[in-house]
Amino acid sequence: MHIAYVNGRYLARDRAAVNVEDRGYQFADGVYEVIAAQGGRLIDLERHFDRLDRSLAALDIVRPCERAALRVIVREVLRRNRIRDGIVYMQVTRGVARRNHAFPAAAVPALVVTAARKQPPSQAAVERGVKVITVPETRWKRPDIKSVALLPNVLAKQQAMAAGAEEAWFVDEAGRVTEGSSTNAWIVTGPAEVVTRPLGRDILAGITRDVVLETARESNIRVVERSFTVDEAKGAREAFITSTTSWVLPVVAIDGAPVGDGRPGPVTRLLLDAYRRRVAGDAGSS
Ligand code: PDD
Repeated sequence: MHIAYVNGRYLARDRAAVNVEDRGYQFADGVYEVIAAQGGRLIDLERHFDRLDRSLAALDIVRPCERAALRVIVREVLRRNRIRDGIVYMQVTRGVARRNHAFPAAAVPALVVTAARKQPPSQAAVERGVKVITVPETRWKRPDIKSVALLPNVLAKQQAMAAGAEEAWFVDEAGRVTEGSSTNAWIVTGPAEVVTRPLGRDILAGITRDVVLETARESNIRVVERSFTVDEAKGAREAFITSTTSWVLPVVAIDGAPVGDGRPGPVTRLLLDAYRRRVAGDAGSS
């Protein structure tokens, strides 16, 4: 039986339900995190908690509980579901109130934590790589806040699937890639330079992005945080995506055109290996 945590209780998933007047349901007035577990350890948990705090603060949502309590809940959900390799989903909404756009006077935030068994991308999936399409940036101007309002991301991902691709890259009005619908976007240019868009209000500060930047620098790979155009990406030697669930996945085609020779490239492989070693070696995990 699958167990979910809902507002203080651990419930069988079919009984776990939120109030119809939860503002997350009515207004997408909430934020979330997805955290990977490997061998029972939570990867970069504290960084995810830091980002959750930033998202909550940006929307003026009260923290549902102290971090120590959150740690206990996240671990307990994994334990009760006997999950060692998988993901934890955590969602905090502003709470339950009669429908009214303005914040309720005394909102009690609602916290839901669920978990699912999931393996990181297999070596076969890495060798296959992913195909990406590009779509116009249609999101609001604060995708740095990890809000549950993901409709443009959902539509973009669906468009990718319909086109036989696995991810959609959003492209801003200047023709520059912002990020994927659920991943950060990267390219490797001619002089073996790893490029990804700098942090700002226009992309999510991916935890995997952060870690990959760190490991690249530690491996003496040149990295530059700057934006790049779709044309530059199509002409790049390599491209890849990063996220909690994708780790580091090669991009082998953009809008139907092969990237490089259409196979995973050496720099991407190196960064994936370094990421795998970091996860296995437990730095950052708890
Ligand atoms: N997605 N950009 C967007 C829009 C995302 O939704 C995500 C994560 C990322 C990568 O962030 P991180 O490395 O911290 O996972 C970038 C999660 C996994 C999701 O929505 O399922």
